[in-house]
Amino acid sequence: MINHEKIEKNSILLLVLAIIVVSIGGMVEILPLFRMETVIEPVKGIRPYTPLELAGQNIYIRENCAVCHSQQIRSLRDDVTRYGHYSLAAESMYDHPFLWGSKRIGPDLARVGGKYSDAWHVAHLSNPRSVVPESVMPNFSFLMTRGADLVDIADHLRVLRLLGVPYTDDMIANAYNDGISQARADGDAPGLKKRYGDKVNVRDFDGQPNFVSEMDALIAYLQKLGTDVDFTTFDPNMDPRDQLVNPVPEPAPEPAPEKGK
Ligand code: HEC
Repeated sequence: MINHEKIEKNSILLLVLAIIVVSIGGMVEILPLFRMETVIEPVKGIRPYTPLELAGQNIYIRENCAVCHSQQIRSLRDDVTRYGHYSLAAESMYDHPFLWGSKRIGPDLARVGGKYSDAWHVAHLSNPRSVVPESVMPNFSFLMTRGADLVDIADHLRVLRLLGVPYTDDMIANAYNDGISQARADGDAPGLKKRYGDKVNVRDFDGQPNFVSEMDALIAYLQKLGTDVDFTTFDPNMDPRDQLVNPVPEPAPEPAPEKGK
């Protein structure tokens, strides 16, 4: 039997045993965090990106939009007043990589979805100064003439599934067609909505009906940002498991206190 005195007098033995104890403690604390569902509270409405939105996110990464734009509304009053409800962890749980960003040369984009029309985005991305004269954002007009890269989008879905994004076999098998359909009036809109939900925007985003451009993909992505959760029914204090099945009704307004009491 090793008694404690021996351990304390032998520094190498103490070091080895300390490392063993610390690594067991470390594993107990760190390993569970690798399972997404143990760290992120599920919230009703969150869905993975459609293939076209994913292609748009790839353009967002390629063009380094995150160098000027954050996608993370903090719970500070200034942020919430300007951009809306603070960002929930669940809202970026399917982002690989995260695009939270750390610089705000331009505004936060976490809830930009639905804020502007598609035509505004086309004008703004093509030449930001045509709609915001003082803007310092670069022109991205070339996105209009380049085709959205959907050829290997099914592989992208497959890799994301390995990382825990719940893409089904059906979604992967239809990835290319779904990508095209979302930006065309004559595509398989019902199939796309069946797979990704009724809220998916299906339309010609860039005003070029017969061409699925990078502009289509990027705008589809921007118009989705921050639109998953219905904040009229979301209650952060509620047990997230109830949130999933049972959206809470608005609380009844409290009766006004009677005067003179
Ligand atoms: C050099 C920094 C810079 C880069 C890079 C940049 N932006 Fe911007 N962006 C800005 C600035 C500044 C504004 C505010 C003025 C304006 O609306 O143009 C802005 C505004 C925006 C807005 C309007 C936001 C709002 O709520 O009014 C959107 C959408 C946007 N940018 C998207 C993008 C996308 C997508 C990319 C990448 C393709 C991008 N930006 C790249 C600086 C940048």
